[in-house]
Amino acid sequence: MQYLSELESTINDMVSKGRGILAADESTGTIAKRFKSIDVEASEENRRIWRSLLVSTEGLGEYISAIILFEESLNQKIDSGELIQQAAWAQKIVPGIKVDKGTTALALSPGDLITQGLDGLSERLQGYKSQGARFAKWREVYAVDQHLPSQHGIQANAEMLARYAAACQAEGIVPIVEPEVLMDGTHDIERHAEVTQAVQLAVFEALHRHKVVLELMILKPNMVLPGKELRRAEPDEVAAATLRVFRRTVPAAVPSINFLSGGLGPEEATANLNALNQQAADAPWKLSISYGRALQQTALQAWHGKAENVAAAQQALLKRARLNHLAMLGNYQAQLEND
Ligand code: 13P
Repeated sequence: MQYLSELESTINDMVSKGRGILAADESTGTIAKRFKSIDVEASEENRRIWRSLLVSTEGLGEYISAIILFEESLNQKIDSGELIQQAAWAQKIVPGIKVDKGTTALALSPGDLITQGLDGLSERLQGYKSQGARFAKWREVYAVDQHLPSQHGIQANAEMLARYAAACQAEGIVPIVEPEVLMDGTHDIERHAEVTQAVQLAVFEALHRHKVVLELMILKPNMVLPGKELRRAEPDEVAAATLRVFRRTVPAAVPSINFLSGGLGPEEATANLNALNQQAADAPWKLSISYGRALQQTALQAWHGKAENVAAAQQALLKRARLNHLAMLGNYQAQLEND
């Protein structure tokens, strides 16, 4: 493989016990929703200020090993004039980039979704790499009900993820492979486990077929949960159901499983991660995070778009990062939320 040593060095920088990934790669539409919740205008300047605030949080690199950025952030600078990705590097946080172009309906397969963005991907990856991105992220999304996703949908999505991951490794970019089985709905936890298992099996079958080197990728999956509209599960139940599926489907060659938060509250996401690490001390992979909302939500609330709140927002971010760090070691306790 042409870029083997580069890929190995990126994986080593990204995967380390007790550190996780901050997902700050919301598309322009998604960040507009997050800003609306705090009455902040979704202007390019506000997005720059927000992402500058995140990467400039002093001490963040102790708990965060990598940050996923959205395309426009690669051209944006923090107030000192440094590029956002340089500010990340200054804290030993590896910068990477979301490269998919979002979901659309899978034609002739009602209810199934498919992610776009493969056309011209290799050229785009070369460009992002020259701007300093060392890894990429691509997300496929699966809605759940009694019938969905269809077997055909599962296969089509797996194929996309594998083609993306192969294109990344061919360009010396570490792929984060994100198949997200949504938690929305009234399904029970067994149904979510069944779908997640089928999705993971298909994804790894496709990754093998496309010759993706499993040691040089990161898996970013959902946890196994009952539907959000059905009930909330305790961390031990989530951890047991999640580990059962991943032990059956994720090869030991994969260095790290970095969960998405998917709409879980910040404390719930941390408590679930803690239970996962407590129950899986012997697991072959690291169990870490690639949280977006569960890391950023409390900081966004503290910020409210005001310069005088930047320090408070950074404290809120650092607190969530530290508590998740403790959860990666299985040492989190709910009382720590009050410190
Ligand atoms: P959440 O943790 O908010 O689900 O975001 C993670 C992510 O990157 C989704 O693609």
